[in-house]
Amino acid sequence: MSALTTDARIAVIGAGAMGAGIAQVAAQAGHRVQLLDSRPGAAAQAIAGIDRQLGKRVQNGKLEAQAHRATLDRLQVAESIDSLADSDLIIEAIVENLEVKQQLFRQLENLCQPSCILASNTSSLSITSIAAGLTRPERLLGLHFFNPAPVMALVEVISGLASDPALARCLYHTAAAWGKKPVHARSTPGFIVNRVARPFYAESLRLLQEGAADCTTLDALLREGGGFAMGAFELTDLIGHDVNYAVTCSVFHAYYGDMRYQPSLIQKELVDAGHLGRKSGQGFYSYAEGAPRPAPSQLESQASIDCCEVEGDLGIARELLPRLREAGIHLTLRDGSGLLRVGDAVLALSDGRSASQRARASGLRNLILLDLAGDFSSAGRIAISCSADTSPQAMEQAVALLQRAGLKVSQVTDSPALVVLRSVAMLANEAADALLHGVASAADIDLAMRAGVNYPQGPLAWADRIGLAALLHVLENLQAAYGEERYRPSLLLRRKVAEGSTFHD
Ligand code: NAI
Repeated sequence: MSALTTDARIAVIGAGAMGAGIAQVAAQAGHRVQLLDSRPGAAAQAIAGIDRQLGKRVQNGKLEAQAHRATLDRLQVAESIDSLADSDLIIEAIVENLEVKQQLFRQLENLCQPSCILASNTSSLSITSIAAGLTRPERLLGLHFFNPAPVMALVEVISGLASDPALARCLYHTAAAWGKKPVHARSTPGFIVNRVARPFYAESLRLLQEGAADCTTLDALLREGGGFAMGAFELTDLIGHDVNYAVTCSVFHAYYGDMRYQPSLIQKELVDAGHLGRKSGQGFYSYAEGAPRPAPSQLESQASIDCCEVEGDLGIARELLPRLREAGIHLTLRDGSGLLRVGDAVLALSDGRSASQRARASGLRNLILLDLAGDFSSAGRIAISCSADTSPQAMEQAVALLQRAGLKVSQVTDSPALVVLRSVAMLANEAADALLHGVASAADIDLAMRAGVNYPQGPLAWADRIGLAALLHVLENLQAAYGEERYRPSLLLRRKVAEGSTFHD
């Protein structure tokens, strides 16, 4: 079924942050849109807000005045629910409460023509449950926009147990015609984005709890090393800890307390204290006027380095070698087990074991482990950790080598899989399980994480680049280090490794 044509009449119920944004998107795409809110004056206020926003875009030369006027002409306040009777698509964006949404849809079902598609913008409720009380549950689907709807490209089109696949296709094509990047998802807790993104926050929170590094350093590593737009602490400060913690709790409970989604006591304490992030002026960071932002910790070395030895394949860290060559470092290549030797120091990409554990198992001294970088050829910062026997001189030499390649170096305590590797391994593992459970296709999971939360790479494509066998090894070592099922590798990852295939084969 193709997209709704622009003569299709759209209604949006709930004129809050999301409803107003969705109404704007549909009106800008050429539809007549009615906006209804139970609070008197709310819909008119929302349209006035859209008017102001579009007016600013006209002033900045980003929108034609005519397009502004045409969009506003298409937006209309609905005085009562009865005026929505002739709608072709109704999108609900009211309070996040199952009973209230169910009641609204029952009312709409009795009022609207049989061909009208009913959609909910719920971020956490089951589409199957919302549709359960309807006579024709097949016409109800999820249409999950991200905040702010006019800016964020992703729309998750969610099918409940009874949803008609033809209507899912229609909403998919309609969202695409509205300039969005739609993905299909099955109604499961957190859908795609709110589920797959959980480890991004959870692993940083755990590293902080274990004293691996401070917030600023961990954030800087995810940003400048991993290539993420923000680190987990600055991002949760922006989202609001009340909102982020509530989503984690909701996913945790929905999966019957699966420890992979376990909420963090550190975040709970912030919520309990009212330190909700930017909106309250204090979260992990202070947003008070003039409050200084601490600098990430960083090692500096004065050692002079002009050569190193490369033994065997460094895995994805081999992308660092051209940078070293360009910096004038002479590389001697020989066979071996993936090590980089400089002076007394032995460097290797982490495999998920701690440095001390690996040093002891391999009989190596002065072992310094490298974290993953999103792109080794351009990363600005990297985390390292070292085995307990590492001498200050070996550390100086390793840091000097990495500095020569143009990397800032931050040391973290000897933690399994360091920071970026651990976060990406867990994101990829979660994405693999979502794929295994049929939540969405590999392409849609990757697109959702890029377009919905701006990840630099889709987690499954990222896993393919790192190498699935290497990634499985990291997760097995993490699981062994912690002895927790939280780090259990997905069956699908194990299967792909056994088959010698990739997620995008
Ligand atoms: P909001 O609180 O800003 O707006 C909700 C609006 O719905 C209010 O104006 C309220 O008066 C109205 N309302 C409540 N019950 C109503 C009813 N029975 N009939 C008509 N109007 C009613 O909420 P927000 O943030 O816009 O969220 C709306 C929905 O979108 C929720 O289901 C939420 O989970 C979901 N969502 C929210 C996102 C966000 O970042 N805020 C992101 C994606 C989805």
